[in-house]
Amino acid sequence: MRLVFVCLGNICRSPTAEGILRHLLREARRTDIEVDSAGTGRWHVGEPPDPRAVATARRRGVTLDHLGRQFTRGDFAAYDLVLAVDVPVARALTTLAPPEHRDRVRLARSFDPAAPPDAEVPDPYYGDQAAFDQVFDVCLAACRGILAAFPPVTSSG
Ligand code: 4NP
Repeated sequence: MRLVFVCLGNICRSPTAEGILRHLLREARRTDIEVDSAGTGRWHVGEPPDPRAVATARRRGVTLDHLGRQFTRGDFAAYDLVLAVDVPVARALTTLAPPEHRDRVRLARSFDPAAPPDAEVPDPYYGDQAAFDQVFDVCLAACRGILAAFPPVTSSG
């Protein structure tokens, strides 16, 4: 399965979620899920993640090594799941999607069983380091939920 996290700038929330899920997949020795991230905006294309996101992730043992890129209409064909960090991003993606791929758009936190309906990953860009810590925590819960929602296919015998 291929999935992509999408935020606005692709320098804070979606690279954090991508790094966390990549880390959890490696820990679980799972290779059945491929993960990527992108942004709806183009301001930060080619840029590494925000240093504050990198700092929080590093403290929690997660490396972020993504470079910003913009999500395109053509990307829908390449991913089974397009996971938006918040409702405005989900709306932008749904508008962008070819009609037959609209149902690939979901809210990332909808995979966290403890999150309320329509829960969002709050934008930390104009916040402080604590905002990035909170982003990490909610992304971690969502990523754990994603792994649980798609258990590895094992062959018995
Ligand atoms: P992100 O955060 O969408 O989580 O990467 C933002 C990064 C940049 C901007 C907004 C949000 N910006 O306006 O440049």
